[in-house]
Amino acid sequence: MKKSRIVVIGAGAVGSTTAYTLLLRNRMDELVLIDANEKKAIGDALDMNHGMPFLGGTKVWAGTYEDCKGADIIIITAGVAQRPGEERIQLLKRNVAIFDQIIDEVLKYNDDGILLIASNPVDVMSYFSLRKSRWPVNRVIGSGTLLDSARFRYLIGEELNIDPRSVHAPIIGEHGDSELPVWSLSNVAGTELGLNDEQKERIFTGTRDAAYQIIEAKGATYYAIALALDRICTAILQDEGAVLNVSTLLDNYLGVSDVYIGVPCVVDRGGIRNVLELTLSDEETALFQKSANKLKGLIESIRD
Ligand code: LAC
Repeated sequence: MKKSRIVVIGAGAVGSTTAYTLLLRNRMDELVLIDANEKKAIGDALDMNHGMPFLGGTKVWAGTYEDCKGADIIIITAGVAQRPGEERIQLLKRNVAIFDQIIDEVLKYNDDGILLIASNPVDVMSYFSLRKSRWPVNRVIGSGTLLDSARFRYLIGEELNIDPRSVHAPIIGEHGDSELPVWSLSNVAGTELGLNDEQKERIFTGTRDAAYQIIEAKGATYYAIALALDRICTAILQDEGAVLNVSTLLDNYLGVSDVYIGVPCVVDRGGIRNVLELTLSDEETALFQKSANKLKGLIESIRD
């Protein structure tokens, strides 16, 4: 029986933490770490393997792009990361240059896996990965606003003293400053949240600006994004059909086309099966289209 394999490209804070999260949760049979700094990947693999007597199951190694052959999921976390106060979109040109090389290498060894993009600005990096790889849309997924939605649910749960797993509250749009909260569809067991404007503003601001706050405090974010990437990998490998707010290419969705952006997608073994069209308020629709237009502008800026 074929062994499941996940390759993580980029053994920085996000890549290493994601690899370790996948390992702790025993998601795959084989886990491969690739980094331009081979010593880092080797060190991470050694450090994880020494824990195997407490875990067992997964085969972990520091590999090369040849190990992308037969991989079910190739997670790309490589690239420059935000510095304190830096917007995600300021990383764009540097990360496109890095991705250009990475995807050339991946394509040499894999043409049937799923690309899962986490590097920022993730929506544009996902769009670039789709065009560069020429893989079908369903197999090129960006982490999107899954992390933002998790932050949003957590902060609402804190406000209402309710387990965040019982809070249904989507953030859609750019994984970035133009993201928007879909208050009109947010609920707990189908009941109204009962939050006033001050509470809503504080919760959304805390959600949107969370990364800036964390980066200021400790230099980078990596735990929650690792858990979000683990969630996406699980939905794929378990063929769940889970609805996750990930980034995908839209075609006439709420009047938006030809842009990667965070929307609710059904995720299964084939990647993204379909997108669920939300019924938004007029204000939410306008904010979504504004977010999409910002991303389209960024896509234009990297078009050859
Ligand atoms: C964050 C990074 C993953 O939002 O963009 O923490």
